[in-house]
Amino acid sequence: MMPDVTLSTLQELNQKGEKIVMLTAYDATFASVAAKAGVEVLLVGDSLGMVVQGHDSTLPVSVADMAYHTACVKRGNRGAFIVTDLPFMAYATLEQALVNSAAVMQAGAHMVKLEGGAFLAEIVRRLADNGVPTCIHMGLTPQSVNVLGGYKVQGRNEAQARQLRSDAIALEQAGAAMLLLECVPSELAAEITDAVKIPVIGIGAGNATDGQVLVLHDMLGLSLTGRMPKFVKNFMVGQTSIDGAISAYVAAVKDSSFPAAEHGFSA
Ligand code: KIV
Repeated sequence: MMPDVTLSTLQELNQKGEKIVMLTAYDATFASVAAKAGVEVLLVGDSLGMVVQGHDSTLPVSVADMAYHTACVKRGNRGAFIVTDLPFMAYATLEQALVNSAAVMQAGAHMVKLEGGAFLAEIVRRLADNGVPTCIHMGLTPQSVNVLGGYKVQGRNEAQARQLRSDAIALEQAGAAMLLLECVPSELAAEITDAVKIPVIGIGAGNATDGQVLVLHDMLGLSLTGRMPKFVKNFMVGQTSIDGAISAYVAAVKDSSFPAAEHGFSA
């Protein structure tokens, strides 16, 4: 069954300048609560490796895990658009990208998310040709934490910023349907958002992106480690229910009161 929110809906919201609300979901109940609260995009993120499975990174997550959680989210979904991460090393080759995208799309995803840059252009093109829209996650890409040397803000120097800008344009030209920018300076995120027509969703990327995403557990104030990234706001504060917290998040993204300046990064 087609969801109420489709890729066309997201493109229309973007053209109208209405912010797109994305939130992670990993199971049926939270998918239902979030969709009913007005979240337009449910992200079955490989962050489930950390917040659900208790690993210290997203690297141990498998395609089978992603397909399982996507199927759970699909069962609870009430009309939202479902984006599922392809996990670590699941798109190292074109053939893996095609086979593993098929697995999560058949489990219920409407789009797949891959982490990287312009080097993904050929995969993006072939997935689009085969009916799979893509969201490319750029900036801080957690699957590359061992290359990046930690969970650090990206794009702070001019060479990195230039690379991110040109990658975004190359990926749009290759047929990517959406970009997600994580932990990049707010000004750079604004420039990239201006430079492309496809929706750009931000997390730790300031207020100028076309939409926002948070990890469900973070915005409910739940943490295994006791640490919370600077870009997170605890939406349970002032609320008496989880539904209320998610509705408050939706309202704050829609009226641009979240993220505030304090949630962003400078160059
Ligand atoms: O896996 C995930 O939940 C994500 C978000 C942090 C954007 O990619």
